Order: sequence, then C-alpha cells, then structure tokens
Amino acid sequence: MKKKMTIESKIKEALHPHWNLLTEEAMLYSATAGGKRIRPLLLLTVGEDIGVDEKELLDVAVAVELFHTASLIHDDLPPIDNANFRRGKPTCHRVYGEGIALLAGDGLFFLAFSRIAKVGIPKLFEEFSEMAYKLLLGEAMDVEFERGEREISTEIVEKMYSFKTGALFAFCFSAPFILKKHEYSLMKEMGEKFGVAFQIYDDLKDVLGSFEKLGKDVGKDVKKVTLVKKMGIQKARSLADKYYDEVLEFVKSEGLHKTLRLLKDLKKVVEER
Ligand code: IPE
Ligand code: IPE
Ligand code: MG
Ligand code: MG
Ligand code: MG
Repeated sequence: MKKKMTIESKIKEALHPHWNLLTEEAMLYSATAGGKRIRPLLLLTVGEDIGVDEKELLDVAVAVELFHTASLIHDDLPPIDNANFRRGKPTCHRVYGEGIALLAGDGLFFLAFSRIAKVGIPKLFEEFSEMAYKLLLGEAMDVEFERGEREISTEIVEKMYSFKTGALFAFCFSAPFILKKHEYSLMKEMGEKFGVAFQIYDDLKDVLGSFEKLGKDVGKDVKKVTLVKKMGIQKARSLADKYYDEVLEFVKSEGLHKTLRLLKDLKKVVEER
C-alpha cells in the first residue's frame, strides 16, 4: 500500500503542469484517473526482493506507468479501439478532443523516455526502447488483424499478445536485475509470459465482465482477433492459468518471496470482472 501511495505522488509530481496547456492537463487527467498501477508495483517489488534501493527504482517505476498510460490513451482513440471509458472515467479524447489526446499520449511517451535516460544506464535505455517498439508492433498487429484480410494462426495471436502486453511486463520484471547488473533473460521471459496471461484475462473480461467492475467498456472486441475467440473461453482460461502458474513457480524457485506474494494477490485483481 505504501508503494502505491509513493507511485501516486511521484506520478503527480512528474506531471505538474508548467505551461498552462490543456495537453498537460490531459496527461495528468489520464495518468491519475485510477489505474491499478500493477506494472510499477511489480517492478518495485522485484527490486525489493533483490535488494535494490527503492529510490533508485522510482524514476523507472514512474516511467513505466507514464508509458503504459500513453499507450492506453492512443489505444482508446477512435481509429484504434474507439473506447469511451477508461479507468472509470471518460477517455482522454472524449474530454479533451482527439488532437489533444494524441499529443497527451506523445507527451507521456516522451516523458517516460527522458526519465529512463536520466537513470543513466545504457542497457536499461536499450531495453526500454526495444520494449516500446515491441508494444507498437503488437498494437499494429492488433489493428491490422482486425481488418480480417488474412488468416491469423493462434501462434501469431500469442505473438501479438507477447508484444502489445508482454513486452512492458517483461521490462518491469527485468529492470531491477539490469540495475543490479544481474543476468536478466529468464526474468524477461517470465514477465512476457505473465503479460500474455494478463492479456488473455483482459480478453475474458471483455466477454464476461461488467463496466462497473472494470471501469472501461466491455464487448468491444467483437471484431478483434483474440485468443479467446481462437480457442474458446475454457481453453483460453486454462492457458492463462498455466502461464500464470509457471511464472509463480519460477518466482518461487528464485526466492523472490515478496513478488510471489504480490503475484498471488494480483491473481484476484487480474481475474476480477
Ligand atoms: C489495461 O491494463 C491494458 C491491457 C494490457 C489489457 P490494466 O488492466 O493494467 O489497466 P490500468 O492501468 O489498471 O487502467
Ligand atoms: C492492450 O489491449 C492495450 C495496450 C497494450 C495498449 P486492449 O485494447 O485489449 O486493452 P483495453 O481492453 O483497451 O484496456
Ligand atoms: Mg487495443
Ligand atoms: Mg483497447
Ligand atoms: Mg482489452
């Protein structure tokens, strides 16, 4: 809980307006609209488990959440997912208009990059940049597959998930290891797997969930290519559960006890619909 409060206040601080611009207001609006903060929480908790000083990780945690929020603002825009609600509130473009929402997303992306640059670790910057491009590729696949112009295999849909959602979780799992100069490839792999599971649960929520619980529109994925559609509800859920369990197993075997506790607690949140 203390971590979440620290994240909230650091995000507000990072987005304190300087230029009296609606775009700045829009950035703050979306970033403080009530996200679950799962990504920065995971990052800080992994860091705690391996003894990274929280102060060293706070800029990275803020960057991750700003970046995530930016991706959501753009994801919600009319030519992408055309969503009206996010985090229980009207989407950024519904409040500020599409032009400002586009700029607010760009602003949050750029601020996230400058925060990561400030940490001063080239490997971290490289991984963050690669993550960003993967997220873009995943979103591009999502948008293009929706056109229904080609047959998409289950493997490719899973690849799309590992890019659009897995890459950012992979970064969160591995960033503390990078700071410690530890080997991080397995953590990255596990973060990606967690992200794929996370996206499957999100797709299940779109079919089975409610606006009241989720704070975002449901039934939006009718035209989307999803693993839930490819495999059916039961099989998709089993796959997500399997991946989630594999991540738990790994985290346990590595002795990351706080992370294990957090992931166990998050299971309810991630599945809640
Ligand atoms: C939503 O992520 C986007 C997906 C990857 C499915 P979250 O469910 O973490 O959204 P917030 O940050 O809590 O709003
Ligand atoms: C994940 O996909 C979005 C990003 C990675 C930006 P969705 O489009 O399913 O996310 P929601 O359902 O809008 O939160
Ligand atoms: Mg989308
Ligand atoms: Mg969406
Ligand atoms: Mg979704």
